[in-house]
Amino acid sequence: MAREHWGTRIGLILAMAGNAVGLGNFLRFPTQAAQNGGGVFMIPYMISIVVIAIPLMWTEWAIGRYGGVKGHGTTPAIFKLLWKHPIAKYVGVLGLFVPFVVACYYVYIESWTLGYAVMSIGGMLPTEAAASAAPGTAQYLKPFQDLLATYTGMGNGNIYQPSIMAYLFFLVTVALNVWILIKGISGGIEKLAKLAMPSLFLMALVLMVRVLTLETPQGSAVEGLNFLWTPDWSQLSNPKVWLAAAGQVFFTLSLGFGAIITYASYLGKNDDLVLSGLSAASLNELAEVVLGGSIAIPAAAAFFGVMAAQQIAASGAFNLAFVSLPAIFANIPMGSLFGFLWFTLLFFAGLTSSVAITQPVIAFLEDEFRLKRPHAVIATMTFLFGIAHVPIFLGKALDEMDFWAGTFFVVIFALIEVIIFFWIFESKRAWEEINRGAIVKAPTIFFPIIKYVTPLFLIVILGWWTFDVLPGYLKNGSWTAWVTRELLVGIGFFLCFLVFLSDRRRRSK
Ligand code: TRP
Repeated sequence: MAREHWGTRIGLILAMAGNAVGLGNFLRFPTQAAQNGGGVFMIPYMISIVVIAIPLMWTEWAIGRYGGVKGHGTTPAIFKLLWKHPIAKYVGVLGLFVPFVVACYYVYIESWTLGYAVMSIGGMLPTEAAASAAPGTAQYLKPFQDLLATYTGMGNGNIYQPSIMAYLFFLVTVALNVWILIKGISGGIEKLAKLAMPSLFLMALVLMVRVLTLETPQGSAVEGLNFLWTPDWSQLSNPKVWLAAAGQVFFTLSLGFGAIITYASYLGKNDDLVLSGLSAASLNELAEVVLGGSIAIPAAAAFFGVMAAQQIAASGAFNLAFVSLPAIFANIPMGSLFGFLWFTLLFFAGLTSSVAITQPVIAFLEDEFRLKRPHAVIATMTFLFGIAHVPIFLGKALDEMDFWAGTFFVVIFALIEVIIFFWIFESKRAWEEINRGAIVKAPTIFFPIIKYVTPLFLIVILGWWTFDVLPGYLKNGSWTAWVTRELLVGIGFFLCFLVFLSDRRRRSK
């Protein structure tokens, strides 16, 4: 059975950009920048791009293409090819575990954006209550806070009670993902990217222009930009700022998730990856720094004043997206249209990422168990659908899954892949792999960077987390957190068992 391939180079780049451009660009980036020194955040951010992002980007593309040519799109099999050790395939389980666990809650959040898009255009978002209170007061946001609380049912309790609407939109979102995934790499994912990515950039541009021309007695969008981009230099020596910047770079470029490796496994043996990888990353940075930085925070500053915008940023990305922004749109002309654009933008960003995050497990079932694509998709999505009920109903399970799979193991996985590729597989061969078929060769300065600086940087990050963040985190464990942790261990063992089976299957052939 021949493996699938990308149809065109532009399709590949857009799909890879779609993989990377997600909720992180429009929500996580501005909140992180606002919380970590404003403009000064960009210095560690840029350094992280050079020292972590570009090296890992090329490493993941090269590992993926190497495996794909040999018929494997996920790390259990690919690590075994690169590292002839019996443990390699189990280390590679991380490349299934991380994306799968994140997918289980990512699809749910994605479904909120669809629900809110429909509610915006249908005029179902609060307006009158908002109009009766002055912008900038807490009362003004209250109807929107209440709506989000009713919609998701998330509160302080151990069991959440989402609205029927939230559950229905979740079903629709899962179905939509299944439909696209069943159509395959070039017929589904690539087509989606060609359609969704240009529309996404267009919608973001329209919103950016609208936001930047906002002015109210409370403030203006330009003040918001000033706040976001004026460096607080005293923060440069704060390790927290450096960690936040490095973490954001990982998250926004989808590095350390295995998702890029799987996408890259559908490249041809001599397809360029140096320039394609850079192009996809640049599109992501354009969407992040230019568009992502110019919408949510400046809008909040124009409507609620810079001080309040700062508080909103500190209260987290969900508040920014589902409370502040709709409250603003409720009070401008054609607000329901702009609200619709905003949530559709987020939905497209989410959809092109959720198909990327589910693809590794699907590819694993296809490559290693010879499942037909529709069967692999149905099996994966059924499993995902079941597990998703944990973050939907169990208190704080979402944060727990995000912490372990989306933050902690990501860095471990990135460190492992660089070491396996540049130290065990051997750096000269790795460098040749990266440059094979390259339209422009990677600058030689990156050779020592990837070999020495990147792993060192990752070890420092990991050490800081392990000794500083982890203990405090483990201390306040509720029973729901422990149930979630046990579930994660269960998923991990189950995936290890599948890898064990697939390996036996191969050997007995
Ligand atoms: N990069 C995505 C964002 O900015 C989120 C993400 C992280 C992701 N890892 C991923 C998406 C892996 C797809 C695959 O929102």
